[in-house]
Amino acid sequence: MEDIKIPVHVAIIMDGNGRWAKEHSLPRNEGHRKGTKVLEQIIKHANGLGIKYLTVYAFSTENWRRPKSEIDGLLKLFKRYLDEHIKKAHKENIRFRALGDIWSDRIPDELREKILLLENMTKDKKGLCFNMAFNYGGRDEMIRACKKMINDIMLKNIPYDNINEELFENYLDTAGQSDPDLMIRTSGEIRTSNFLPWQLTYSEFYFTTCLWPEFTPQEFDKAIADYNIRKRRFGKSE
Ligand code: FPP
Repeated sequence: MEDIKIPVHVAIIMDGNGRWAKEHSLPRNEGHRKGTKVLEQIIKHANGLGIKYLTVYAFSTENWRRPKSEIDGLLKLFKRYLDEHIKKAHKENIRFRALGDIWSDRIPDELREKILLLENMTKDKKGLCFNMAFNYGGRDEMIRACKKMINDIMLKNIPYDNINEELFENYLDTAGQSDPDLMIRTSGEIRTSNFLPWQLTYSEFYFTTCLWPEFTPQEFDKAIADYNIRKRRFGKSE
């Protein structure tokens, strides 16, 4: 990985846990459990590479339609992740942030408290900023952002003409962060599924048939190598 351009922000749709479990004759939640282990490895790897932001899609606003046993399994995995990282936050340099509607009634109070605690414990960390999108939907994020912006506009008498992209971005869950340079989706699906629609506007997309539980740091490096041969023009001519 010498002389390689490292993206500042990488976003990942971790897809294929269910198919991986099925291939191994295991319950779906085993796929998510293996997927969480893979996620831990990728966070470490991304931090080691000097990536500034890593955003993963762990649970969408649409995922509540899944069977209760699967939802409970994912909530449990998230809780376990938070407990483990709250315990070792003092010796890690990773900043944790949750994206998505964590104030929804569907998020158990205990989970929300742990999310807020880990965010607070890691807010001054200087390594990777790890964003976990949980109960996240891109359209929902934009509506929540609009509501917050309109509220501020009315309270602070902000002139209507001041509404622009920069102002709006301040109300998104990713406020203050750069947009993803690279978006990776595993498992062969070629769509973005309501993931960061505002932020992915100019991102490079990398799709791989590898299922998330089989994704490795080497697969991650392949995506970065591919990103390195892309020409990003942001609407400009060459
Ligand atoms: C999509 O695969 C994956 C998810 C809906 C969940 C992703 C979550 C993890 C990898 C674990 C997250 C970690 C924590 C700590 C919460 P799928 O189940 O839709 O797979 P399929 O399309 O093969 O059925």
